[in-house]
Amino acid sequence: MTGSAAQPKRVAVTGGSGGIGREICAALSRAGWTTYALDRVPGEGPAGGFVACDLLDPASIDAAVEALYAEDDSPVSLVTSAGIVENDVAAEDLDIGLVDRVMGVNFRGVFLSCQAFGRELLARGGGAIVNVASMSGNHIVNFPQRQCIYNSSKAAVVALTKSLAVEWGPRGVRVNALSPGYIDTPLNGLKTHMHGEWNEATVLGRMGAPDEVAAAVEFLLDERSGYFLGAELLMDGGYSLR
Ligand SMILES: NC(=O)c1ccc[n+]([C@@H]2O[C@H](COP(=O)([O-])OP(=O)(O)OC[C@H]3O[C@@H](n4cnc5c(N)ncnc54)[C@H](O)[C@@H]3O)[C@@H](O)[C@H]2O)c1
Repeated sequence: MTGSAAQPKRVAVTGGSGGIGREICAALSRAGWTTYALDRVPGEGPAGGFVACDLLDPASIDAAVEALYAEDDSPVSLVTSAGIVENDVAAEDLDIGLVDRVMGVNFRGVFLSCQAFGRELLARGGGAIVNVASMSGNHIVNFPQRQCIYNSSKAAVVALTKSLAVEWGPRGVRVNALSPGYIDTPLNGLKTHMHGEWNEATVLGRMGAPDEVAAAVEFLLDERSGYFLGAELLMDGGYSLR
């Protein structure tokens, strides 16, 4: 359980400088959380603090955790929003280095962040972790853009979320996942020519907004979602229903 009024609420958001991550930081700050954006780059004025962190480097994740607990011993919950995508590469042409980078950020980076922050939460009696996966993990395969490793990495994040939930739930650490559909952020900015198609393929007729993702993350972190464990919340405007 986390977020009680009596306890200071702290949360780290990986990818906190990105399109969705920044909105998550802003929404959580408004809701009273002390928020830290963990990212390779500072971005434009993240709400809350910024901690430089490269998820491809385990020592960098450990250093970020150490820095946050050096200033305050209260528990730090975690949102993993950092992610990268291979931009439309045919599976038969995928370079092993690119495979490793996408899996390295989207899966290994999520695992290492959960492990490093989870250890501290377990030692302090609990907290919450929200992993930002994607509808591309278990619900759809993106088309026509080819991104088989991205899709696979997100399916792995959902499996990891359930596994950690079973291991850590009884010890007070609730782990859940949120799977957005198409959201209007820089991750998709390079593909603006696709926006019309994505809007049309979505039952609601539009892409999602980063602040809508942030609201769902806030709910999953908060004690109002206290009976959610290992859940994957799908928010895709009905894209996967068609
Ligand atoms: N935008 C969408 O349509 C969409 C849909 C479904 C899921 N998602 C997921 O939501 C999350 C956020 O996406 P976004 O649209 O905000 O993307 P974004 O590209 O705007 O932001 C991603 C952030 O991750 C950071 N990052 C990348 N590699 C890193 C590394 N090695 N170490 C630390 N930080 C690193 C980047 O610097 C960036 O700030 C991602 O996990 C993405 O897969 C996005």
